[in-house]
Amino acid sequence: SSVRHYKFSVVSKNITKLCATKPLVTVNGQFPGPTLYAREDETVIVKVTNHVAHNVTIHWHGVRQFRTSWADGPAYVTQCPIQPGQNYIYNFTLTGQRGTLLWHAHISWLRASIHGAIVILPKRGIPYPFPTPDKEKIIVLAEWWKVDVEAVVNQATQSGFPPNVSDAHTINGDPGPVPGCSSQGGYTLHVESGKTYLLRIINAALNDELFFKIAGHNLTIVEVDASYTKPFQTDSIFISPGQTTNALLTANQGIGKYLIAVSPFMDAPIGLDNLTNYAALRYKGNPANPPTILTSVPPLNATPLAHAFIDSLRSLNSEQYPAKVPLTIDHSLFFTMAVGVNPCATCVNGSHLVAAVNNVSFVMPTIALLEAHYYNIPGVFTDDFPGNPPIAFNYTGNSPSNIQTMNGTRLYRLAYNSTVQIVLQGTAIIAPENHPTHLHGFNFFVVGKGLGNFNPEKDPQKFNLVDPVERNTVSVPTAGWTAIRFKADNPGVWFLHCHLEVHTTWGLKMAFLVDNGKDPNDFLPPPPSDLPKC
Ligand code: C2O
Repeated sequence: SSVRHYKFSVVSKNITKLCATKPLVTVNGQFPGPTLYAREDETVIVKVTNHVAHNVTIHWHGVRQFRTSWADGPAYVTQCPIQPGQNYIYNFTLTGQRGTLLWHAHISWLRASIHGAIVILPKRGIPYPFPTPDKEKIIVLAEWWKVDVEAVVNQATQSGFPPNVSDAHTINGDPGPVPGCSSQGGYTLHVESGKTYLLRIINAALNDELFFKIAGHNLTIVEVDASYTKPFQTDSIFISPGQTTNALLTANQGIGKYLIAVSPFMDAPIGLDNLTNYAALRYKGNPANPPTILTSVPPLNATPLAHAFIDSLRSLNSEQYPAKVPLTIDHSLFFTMAVGVNPCATCVNGSHLVAAVNNVSFVMPTIALLEAHYYNIPGVFTDDFPGNPPIAFNYTGNSPSNIQTMNGTRLYRLAYNSTVQIVLQGTAIIAPENHPTHLHGFNFFVVGKGLGNFNPEKDPQKFNLVDPVERNTVSVPTAGWTAIRFKADNPGVWFLHCHLEVHTTWGLKMAFLVDNGKDPNDFLPPPPSDLPKC
């Protein structure tokens, strides 16, 4: 099948938003960046050239990267960064994948401005498993910061408090009408009466889970994270950073102007992030200034609404697209996801925030883990990541006592083709938020979810092993748990982390090492010759 070539130039560009101009690190000068289009099973070759003073890498979020771990992109996990003046060619095939995904920078917080959509169309001649839309629209949700985002990173690591939140949520780069800065009208979604649109919605925000709502219109969800779902209707979408949602919208209401609201979710608001971006859906042929039909905006802590959306998701599980849920488990893992405060002699207030999976706060190495693995370089990592929390977790509704952390660059080792179940238990202390947890290199099935402590005797009896939703990023509920299953059919080193960038920074991350299979086709190939050096 064919090959698609792209050129990504990482350049600094002055961009004006919220009535102020700042230099922004972008791909090709665009915010959001260019959309990458391909078809299922096609090969994509992206030459990334770094023209800025920062190191950079690009991650193709949700792309399975079969045998191409070297092209996955997380800095110091699968590659050393592309240094200023250097380039790297990402070469991967979209084997068996179609739908919407996203690409983004995967170093420090650079993805704030370096991100864009990936649209994988079905193979030529293969229709969608839902009514063919008249048109498709990409909707990239993100955040805008007036300050340089690097300053926020320092704030996050050097103080005992959460860092400042962003100054706006953006829709395709538009921060919406802002009080005191009225020249910007907000994003407009133009529709024609009677037509159906496929909205490809992407949450590329750094730190916010979001609700998306259109006044007067229902949306039919047909796909999440590039996996088809059983269609269901909803008036609001809940979407976490790293997630993608495809929804059908039919322009079946009276000709007019309808409000679109994008608002953040936090089940116990501790920051003051209550910024809603208002955009508009406009029918063709309506008068110049029609009255706007309003919608209610979900409150910041609309936890039942978020859960209702998550609980409605099911795999399509049709004959053509079966849900291949692993039914036997080789590795049964239990991971606690915790955020806490630790002493820090050099920090403001003498403390800083840390986060840990199974009490291990992950320390990034200074050369790539995948290279250390491939070349057997000792002293970079150990393969003794604990499969259970070393300090037993028990959520009682009060602050639990196991926020104690140890630092380490520890990987969990999986045999090729072994099956894995992970119960991700949120411990919710300092950061009363969901943890949208992303696994690189795999799709997983979300077989169960609950509040409070996971019960290893009772809860698995309620698991959905028939048509659980298949995705690459799942929200672990605050003080609750989510169980996922996948098959380790892809050799390499694969990152797992909370996709709230601030939590990743604090250490809420770990990695799996999947060994080669017996057949040479099941080996990780050698690295490409242009793999960046550290
Ligand atoms: Cu979308 Cu490791 O990230």
